[in-house]
Amino acid sequence: MSTTTAEITVAATGSSLQELARRHLWMHFTRMGAYGEDHEIPIIVRGEGCYVWDEHGKRYLDGLSALFCVNIGHGRADVVQAGADQAKELGFFTNWSYAHPRAIELAARVAGYAPGDLNRVFFTSGGSEAVESALKLARQYHKLTGKPTKHKVIAREIAYHGTSLGALSATGITGLRQPFEPLTPGGCHVPNTNTYRLPHGQSESDLVEKIAERIEFEGPDTVAAVILEPVQNAGGCFTPPEGYFQRVREICDEYDVLFISDEVICSWGRLGEWFGAQRYGYQPDVITTAKGLTSAYAPMGAVIVSDRIAEPFMTGTNNFTHGFTFGGHPVCAAIAMANLDVFEDEHILDNVRRGEPLLRETLEGLRDLPIVGDVRGAGYFMAVELVKDKETKESFSHEESETLLRGFLSGELYNRGLICRADDRGDPVVQLSPPLIAGPEQFAEIGEILRSVLDEAGQRMHVHT
Ligand SMILES: Cc1ncc(COP(=O)(O)O)c(C=O)c1O
Repeated sequence: MSTTTAEITVAATGSSLQELARRHLWMHFTRMGAYGEDHEIPIIVRGEGCYVWDEHGKRYLDGLSALFCVNIGHGRADVVQAGADQAKELGFFTNWSYAHPRAIELAARVAGYAPGDLNRVFFTSGGSEAVESALKLARQYHKLTGKPTKHKVIAREIAYHGTSLGALSATGITGLRQPFEPLTPGGCHVPNTNTYRLPHGQSESDLVEKIAERIEFEGPDTVAAVILEPVQNAGGCFTPPEGYFQRVREICDEYDVLFISDEVICSWGRLGEWFGAQRYGYQPDVITTAKGLTSAYAPMGAVIVSDRIAEPFMTGTNNFTHGFTFGGHPVCAAIAMANLDVFEDEHILDNVRRGEPLLRETLEGLRDLPIVGDVRGAGYFMAVELVKDKETKESFSHEESETLLRGFLSGELYNRGLICRADDRGDPVVQLSPPLIAGPEQFAEIGEILRSVLDEAGQRMHVHT
């Protein structure tokens, strides 16, 4: 086997990768202080299909597609080759005042998959940039169309829309917002669609009306956009109640507010369709996407807007006064094209449609465990909510949640060879989002590991039987 760059670095510095990582690498959203001599940083070195391997050669089932993004699975040399070929032909040129073939072809292809009249594609380098761009676009759109005071955005509580200051103002997770306040003004929040924990006296159909009420409360002349995920990730895969998005469309039309569907996770097959909006049959004005667009073989995102929203930017001396150096990078665009070829040639959407019932059945099969309170989600995007008492739906306290998730579950699931997310940005959940090529073999593995780890977790936490 040839010597890897990592091995050369290790040899040159006399330090192990663990030591180098602890000393120099700043990991995202990571309690770096938790890692020491007796607690290794997980270092993933290789991937193939639904599996990855760590530096010790141990294999893991990637039940999260890395971070909801390696949609076609790991190790696709053909997709990488498309990037290498493009780098030889034109390594980089910008989309600032210039175009190049791959960005043009990809924009046209994305427009072809997008719902209705969503036809104009603005490329970014990732999801936060896409959301940031969509929010700026919404503000400028209203200024161009004679409503300059419309600038606020309505989002849902616990929703994650990214980390840049504008996107963070839409993100509804207190712990992520507080360290950086004051945020960009204008972020307003309404209840999410956690139908497992509906507030007393409310029905599912009441939830969407909170959006209209909030627009009225803020003053319709101040509200630019509503941003919603088809299935909300943070909190644990909240699916929409029947008719929710159709009513959002009506509300947005009534108040002249742009409807942004944040599909950074929910597009490119995650829900069994190209876009989440297609799964739930609604028509947004704007879609934000990233992750699966390239299956994470290169960093890329996009904002896709309708002809109607693009029109004011396309006339006279007007322009969208916004951009990023690497938006539409030709290597990323070539990789996205190759990724979409895999989707077409290997019928990836069909695999998700076929596999969804079995993934659901596998997780539903865990409901006999006392700690499993709810199972929800859509496509290859599902969550199991953990409770202290199934009857009363009592959740864990903050301290108990720490003990459960960080003190046991996250580490134990990883030790048992399953990468998934044990999360408590809402109530404690375990989230699954496997590569879209996964099938019965992987689901059986997921079910087996989850059953034994959740069973032990219940006993450790003295969950009522
Ligand atoms: C719905 C949604 N929006 C935005 C983002 C931010 O994307 P990124 O991490 O690529 O900046 C994410 C990331 O997970 C997301 O799930």
